[in-house]
Parts: sequence; C-alpha cells; structure tokens
Amino acid sequence: MNLQTFKIEWAIPEDEQKWLKQHCIGKTLNFPCGQSTIGYRADIDKTVYPDKIANLNNPLKYFTPWSFDTVLCDPPYFFYSKFKWLQDLKKIARKRLILCTPAIWVYLGRKTWKRRIFAISHGKLFMKIYQIFDRTNQPLTIWLDFSNLVQKTVIK
Ligand SMILES: C[S@@+](CC[C@H](N)C(=O)[O-])C[C@H]1O[C@@H](n2cnc3c(N)ncnc32)[C@H](O)[C@@H]1O
Repeated sequence: MNLQTFKIEWAIPEDEQKWLKQHCIGKTLNFPCGQSTIGYRADIDKTVYPDKIANLNNPLKYFTPWSFDTVLCDPPYFFYSKFKWLQDLKKIARKRLILCTPAIWVYLGRKTWKRRIFAISHGKLFMKIYQIFDRTNQPLTIWLDFSNLVQKTVIK
C-alpha cells in the first residue's frame, strides 16, 4: 500500500501556496495536505494536524462524490505508478482537480476534463508541475424516482 509520512522538504513555499490558493475555487479539499494550510485538510499523518485523517489509497471511504468544488492533491510521486486512487479522487471534485505531478501525462478523460499545465521553478534544479483539470460543461444527470413516475432532470 502507498504510504509515506510527511517530510519537511515536501512543504510548499509560501509564494507557491499563494499561487495555489488563487486557483482553488469554492470549497476546497486539500488531500494530502502535509503542512499546507489551504482548504479542508486531510492526510494520513496525524503530526501535520489534518482536519481529517484519511488514506489517499481509498478516497471514497472518507469523502462523497461531488462534495468539494476543488480538490488539491500533492501526493508522494510514487502514487503515480498506479491510478485507481486518482480515478476515485476525481469523483470528489465538482469543478476542479489540481494535481502536483512528476513529468507524466495524467489521463482523466478528455471529454469531461480540460487540462492546463503549469511549471513552477524556485530557482533550484527541479521544477514542479501542476496539472489543473476543469470539468467541461457536461450536464449532471440526476434521476428522481417518484414510485412509478421517473423524471430526468438535467442541471447545466
Ligand atoms: C508531498 S507531501 C504534501 C506536501 C504539502 N503540499 C505541503 O505543502 O506540506 C505528501 C503528503 O502525503 C501524505 N501521505 C503519504 N501517503 C499517504 C496516504 N496513503 N494517504 C494520505 N496521505 C498520505 C504524507 O503524510 C505527506 O504529508
């Protein structure tokens, strides 16, 4: 199972946090949060005092689909060797998913998600990559079941 507790060298610098805050729209889930202070904070490591102790290997055990406008996710990079957790995590995001990634092309589904890629340098050897995905205007389809009358409602 993927799990590594927080290391101080993972902490996001203040200017990068400011930039991230500007891109978090509405109610934000910050998972895993480490020491960063943005939004509702979830992490496996209790020493970073998260609002919720949660395991990223199984996000839907802790959060319901569409329960946050933005989901911000900066996991240890080894998480990107498997993708089941990500398929589940994206369901929690109503509008936007922000991923800090290694140099890989994350595939979420081209019809549903529009991608922007940002590279951030702090003047060090390595750059950080953020892939920001916005849901396209796919209508949310809800089925309301009133005994024998089934009505389909489309919300734009
Ligand atoms: C790259 S750090 C996040 C750094 C954060 N952005 C910051 O500014 O401090 C990755 C975080 O993932 C957490 N983590 C590792 N394995 C996890 C798991 N299975 N479930 C939830 N969190 C996990 C670690 O505790 C760590 O805080």
